[in-house]
Amino acid sequence: MRQHDFEEFPDSGDRSMRRRARFKHELDPARRGRLTEGERVRLAKLRDDAYTEARLLPEGADRWSTWDDAEHGPLPRPDWVRTELAAVDADLGVLKTGKEADVHLLRRGLPGTAGTLHAAKRYRSDEHKLFHRDAGYLEGRRMRRSRETRAMANRTAFGRNLIAEQWAVAEFGALSRLWTIGAPVPYPVQRNGTELLLEFLGEDDGAAAPRLVETRPSPDELAELWSQAVAVLELLASEGLAHGDLSAYNVLVHRGRLMVIDLPQVVDIVANPAGAQFLARDVRNLAGWFHSRGLAEHDTRTEELMEELTNMAGLG
Ligand SMILES: Nc1ncnc2c1ncn2[C@@H]1O[C@H](COP(=O)(O)OP(=O)(O)OP(=O)(O)O)[C@@H](O)[C@H]1O
Ligand SMILES: [Mg+2]
Repeated sequence: MRQHDFEEFPDSGDRSMRRRARFKHELDPARRGRLTEGERVRLAKLRDDAYTEARLLPEGADRWSTWDDAEHGPLPRPDWVRTELAAVDADLGVLKTGKEADVHLLRRGLPGTAGTLHAAKRYRSDEHKLFHRDAGYLEGRRMRRSRETRAMANRTAFGRNLIAEQWAVAEFGALSRLWTIGAPVPYPVQRNGTELLLEFLGEDDGAAAPRLVETRPSPDELAELWSQAVAVLELLASEGLAHGDLSAYNVLVHRGRLMVIDLPQVVDIVANPAGAQFLARDVRNLAGWFHSRGLAEHDTRTEELMEELTNMAGLG
């Protein structure tokens, strides 16, 4: 049946046509002996994949939903999460390219429906990129010595991909844990390899919520946002955690709510020997932005706050 594809080419003296004709000849069941069983299975799979991808994928879709192969987010699952196997994903463009990852806007849904928007964060494994977070953060995490750790240490392409995947795993774990305790983080829908699908913080037209650094809050709004920031810091500390890279760049303001993102390096304050320093840096970074926007230092009282957080984490 499939050989039909190859018979469509007209007879021609052209060399590529002749090559195709030879290919057809090799696939002829009468001459099966010329292909090993493995080769035949591989060819059949290649052609099946091409058939499914190119011919059946509905218009506008870039791939089938990857839900089935992915690690899923925590329960109870929000009702907007699309779990249908027949759903398709459409890549609507880049939201932002960062140092370690690119974030795309992705729509998932059944063909012909409006679907749901997601932020797809894809960790890169470029050859010349150094993960600025590799050093220090991994202290306190144990890893088995293996072919994988050696590949990572030697930065082979395989190893770089493993590092990227490790960050995706770490961020997915942190988001799942924090979402479960009610922290203001995007719901982590799924992780597949180096890609995370997250709840899209933004509007239905695809406009993403601004980063804190891009906002110009009034004095009242500023005070309100600071009190939300303190609440997040306290919630994290009560779990023994610090964000590890907190700044006005890693916080979005979505409909008046401060939302924390970018969490692959979340720090276990107790297990990490530098835990207290990470916590202090987070507080100083964030408070520094609020000061620069006009919030008085006696309102943020950062030294007292740090002490309170260290106590909450059980380090005091
Ligand atoms: N869930 C989301 N909803 C909307 N926008 C998002 C979401 N997650 C990330 N973004 C956008 O993508 C940007 C980069 O995300 P993130 O900080 O997680 O990645 P990053 O690679 O660490 O970037 P950077 O190097 O700039 O810190 C964010 O600043 C934000 O603008
Ligand atoms: Mg970031």
